[in-house]
Amino acid sequence: SDPDLVERARAARAALGDRAFVLGHHYQRDEVIAFADVTGDSFKLAREAAARPDAEFVIFCGVHFMAESADILTSNSQQVVLPDLAAGCSMADMAAIDQVEDAWDVLVDAGVAEDTVPVTYMNSTAAIKAFTGRHGGTVCTSSNAHVALRWAFDKVGGLDGTGKVLFMPDQHLGRNTAVLQLGLSLDDCVVFDPRKPNGGLTAQQLKDARMILWRGHCSVHGRFSARNVTDIRAAVPDVTVLVHPECKHEVVTAADMVGSTEYIIKALDAAEPGTSWAVGTELNLVRRLANAHPDKQVHYLDSTVCFCSTMNRIDLPHLVWAMESLAAGRVPNRIVVDADDAHWARVALDQMLALPG
Ligand code: 13P
Ligand code: SF4
Repeated sequence: SDPDLVERARAARAALGDRAFVLGHHYQRDEVIAFADVTGDSFKLAREAAARPDAEFVIFCGVHFMAESADILTSNSQQVVLPDLAAGCSMADMAAIDQVEDAWDVLVDAGVAEDTVPVTYMNSTAAIKAFTGRHGGTVCTSSNAHVALRWAFDKVGGLDGTGKVLFMPDQHLGRNTAVLQLGLSLDDCVVFDPRKPNGGLTAQQLKDARMILWRGHCSVHGRFSARNVTDIRAAVPDVTVLVHPECKHEVVTAADMVGSTEYIIKALDAAEPGTSWAVGTELNLVRRLANAHPDKQVHYLDSTVCFCSTMNRIDLPHLVWAMESLAAGRVPNRIVVDADDAHWARVALDQMLALPG
């Protein structure tokens, strides 16, 4: 990074002192992570934001839905800042609130809504989290999706019954968790496509389903293929393949281990020196892991897959601009969720924080 910019960042950070708290998601650039007070996956960061009532400003180096969650979980006097407002998430954008309201009407018409609990991945807008809270559901992250799903099924008669979960917006996390961790079958899962009339499903298909998966995915993880796993196994003897659960089902079943970004970091920390790993998640994190573990071989699962472009929008110039503005008494790019959505989204987030484990 430009040394002048690093110096400006240090000066602005020092000027803000305890008034500011800087959160950095694991997919952020190294130049940004260098200034994070805490790093984490989206679950850990949501908890950390809630645990800093004294910080006047929470500077969120991540994407828009994470900053919204931080705003919901912090007190009204705290101000959450996203250094670049263009840092969205293509997956979160795949579920618009109007589409979800319409989908619920389809479930009502099919007679299944009262047996259905909505579960939304953290990677969703505050409006979707609020919808989930209003309908008695919960938020989940990739580290607690299995616990959230068990809780949701328990509300509608348990895993052996006929109750359903509407899982938004990541079909892959929903399917992978339901099949690999809860023991449901692929036939128990249907995909609701919001672009098609009635989601592209008949009332009978909705009645028979246990997992109604929203047709959304992550543009980064969705690009890994089962072929990548075959190729790396052929190229690297004794490689352990470790992937994020946002990958497609065929990739996750071909891999050796699956888990959230925090899980991936811990797995590499616990690995024996001399072992070989192929990691299927965002490139900033994999590069950092490779640098942090010179005694292990850390490969990228597919060398053609690149960064999360929206995570990468937060760079040192944007962070410096945000910190210097705050130090000068201006609050740039504040993220505020409207009061009604914030109330109901908080219900769904609190439900997640209350899940066991
Ligand atoms: P986690 O940090 O929860 O593993 O999620 C990864 C991700 O894609 C965040 O956008
Ligand atoms: Fe969204 Fe995927 Fe980027 Fe995460 S990695 S912020 S899910 S697009």
